[in-house]
Amino acid sequence: MPKQTVTARFANSALIGDIKEIFFNEIQLDEIVARLGRQISKDFEGKNLLMVSVLKGSVVFMADLMRHITIPCRIDFISSSIYKNKTMAQPRPDIRDILQFDDISMFDILVVEDILDTGRTLQGLSEYLLDKGAKSVTICTLLDKPERRDPSTTIKPTYIGAQVANEFVVGYGLDFDEKYRNLPFIGILKPEVYKD
Ligand code: IMP
Ligand code: MG
Repeated sequence: MPKQTVTARFANSALIGDIKEIFFNEIQLDEIVARLGRQISKDFEGKNLLMVSVLKGSVVFMADLMRHITIPCRIDFISSSIYKNKTMAQPRPDIRDILQFDDISMFDILVVEDILDTGRTLQGLSEYLLDKGAKSVTICTLLDKPERRDPSTTIKPTYIGAQVANEFVVGYGLDFDEKYRNLPFIGILKPEVYKD
């Protein structure tokens, strides 16, 4: 994708120097999210939709997506972390249940995630929510990195915003070392930033 103009208010931000290339700008993200919102609103018509955002990476996506959902819905949050430290992922995610609802058996859950990488997080979360009795569990991920999938996972997202190649991306909620989440676009991080 060609380079695009950096959002004006970030032009002088110290964060910009760490970005190799902008992958999806604000306008493109808005189009992607609007498309997903239209589709989800249609498909979940008549269902008891509970949107569950996976903290913290999906909060920006969640906030935008829910405003494109035109049917009645509820929202909740769950915490899941697969990174032990900056770059070391573990085989299974640590799930912290902070759902407001103890009984989720009446809900058709839409798990809202920032990026599907190895698939272990969403696999673990789907199994967790189904074991807990959810009526159904459907996955919506903003980004998908199919090249990185762990072949032992069987996760199949119903809604995918866009596929990305095997590069580390940040912004629009996505972080590296808890930084860059506040960028309004999704950009590729310069490899020298995360390879030390
Ligand atoms: P998975 O369990 O390997 O699919 O990893 C999913 C989690 O890893 C995501 O929810 C992100 O938090 C994180 N992750 C994977 N790839 C990236 C990336 O390119 N940028 C930022 N976070 C990422
Ligand atoms: Mg995440």
